Amino acid sequence: MTEKKATLTVDGHEAIELSVSTPTLGQEVVHVSPLAAKGLFTFDPGFQSTASCESSITYIDGGKGQLLHRGYSIEELASKSDYMEVCYLLLNGELPNAEQKEAFTKQVKAEIDVPEQLQAVFNGFKRDAHPMGMLMAAISALSTYYHESIDINDAASREETAINLVAKLPTLAAMCYKHSIGEEFVAPRADLSYAENFLNMLFGRNGEERAISPVVAQAMDRIFILHADHEQNASTSTVRVAGSSGANPYAAIASGVGTLWGPAHGGANEAVLNMLDEIGSVDNIDTFIAKAKDRNDPFKLMGFGHRVYKNYDPRANVMRESCHQVLGELGINDPKLDLAMKLEKIALSDEYFAERKLFPNVDFYSGIVLSALGIPTSMFTVIFALSRTIGWISHWDEMISNPYRIARPRQLYTGYDERPFVKLEDR
Ligand code: SDX
Repeated sequence: MTEKKATLTVDGHEAIELSVSTPTLGQEVVHVSPLAAKGLFTFDPGFQSTASCESSITYIDGGKGQLLHRGYSIEELASKSDYMEVCYLLLNGELPNAEQKEAFTKQVKAEIDVPEQLQAVFNGFKRDAHPMGMLMAAISALSTYYHESIDINDAASREETAINLVAKLPTLAAMCYKHSIGEEFVAPRADLSYAENFLNMLFGRNGEERAISPVVAQAMDRIFILHADHEQNASTSTVRVAGSSGANPYAAIASGVGTLWGPAHGGANEAVLNMLDEIGSVDNIDTFIAKAKDRNDPFKLMGFGHRVYKNYDPRANVMRESCHQVLGELGINDPKLDLAMKLEKIALSDEYFAERKLFPNVDFYSGIVLSALGIPTSMFTVIFALSRTIGWISHWDEMISNPYRIARPRQLYTGYDERPFVKLEDR
């Protein structure tokens, strides 16, 4: 990276010279760390203009609607690769050759079982407990099985942790679903592909051979790819912050699940389906668009808008194509797809959305595809978390394998100056 300089002049302060780094792609960054020693902080709620770290995993160009994983476009990965290859790519930096892919897949398959005792965690949940709450607890429980054996400063131990998490997340996710419907947990199967195994644990029964549609399995694998990583989003940033204290990586991942759960983030896919159900018919679209535009109404058009994309989210384009392909091949005529497409058309022709550059994001169509695959709405964000685990743990590994410091932001304090204590009888 080439070094440039910036000079900051602040009334009452000497001019401050700051370094500027030029990245491979994207915005130049001003190194503001020296400001603290000069008695200044930067103020950036929501981190709109803050680069929290240096990374080489994923690049997003919000203006162009571009998403690259280790330099490969999401469009190419979604159409030419599979989730196991993308996991290897995110973690190791290169696409695997045939031998590397076989070895990696074998390592993952060897770890798909979860400790028998861990099943008891689910007994503590009501049947209608939200699966994201169950998933957080299950991953936290998993952390206690490996806490003593993990050495976060050892590359091999970090890789083992990453493979263990990628392997076990589908099993835990399926256990959340089976608990919610009161069915027996289905044992994971190493003879099936990653997506087939997940679908079998969701919809199969132990001892039963259940045919899994190749169309459904391929669509599931593509959804895993589309959700695998996305730069420094809220949940990935949470995992980095948690990991920066040296915390158990399973605990850091559990914190990422908690962040992803929110409707402004990964919870949006579930919220889109609920919104489409609430809209009900094309006749009601204008009413909901008006609500979305009303500053006094907290309603937002779920699946629309993005902090970074001010163009189409490239994943939304792939997801829309997948929608048509899956519903077509499965012979499903889901009125929600028609409603979603009409909603997209009307919103994008409205200047409120156009001037704010609000386009469909990855969550707008994913729920419709997941519904077509037979996945219940409550499991949508769990599948997002399952897919994103490789992104989270790859960012954790990148941070830990380079010099890092504990994340500890400061604040703009607007509370009281020091004042004398007031005794109870005098208040
Ligand atoms: C994901 O960060 C990532 O990369 C996340 C993600 C990933 O892969 O990790 O891509 C996954 O989380 C996708 C986003 C899913 N969330 C939703 O679909 C929920 C609906 N979207 C909004 O909540 C919102 O767009 C956010 C949260 C996604 C982005 O919020 P920002 O960047 O803080 O934008 P903002 O609130 O400052 O909005 C700017 C303006 C505001 O209006 P004005 O104050 O200028 O009048 O746009 C409006 C907002 O009110 N606006 C919307 C809107 N999104 C923004 N108005 C109506 N509907 C919306 N969806």
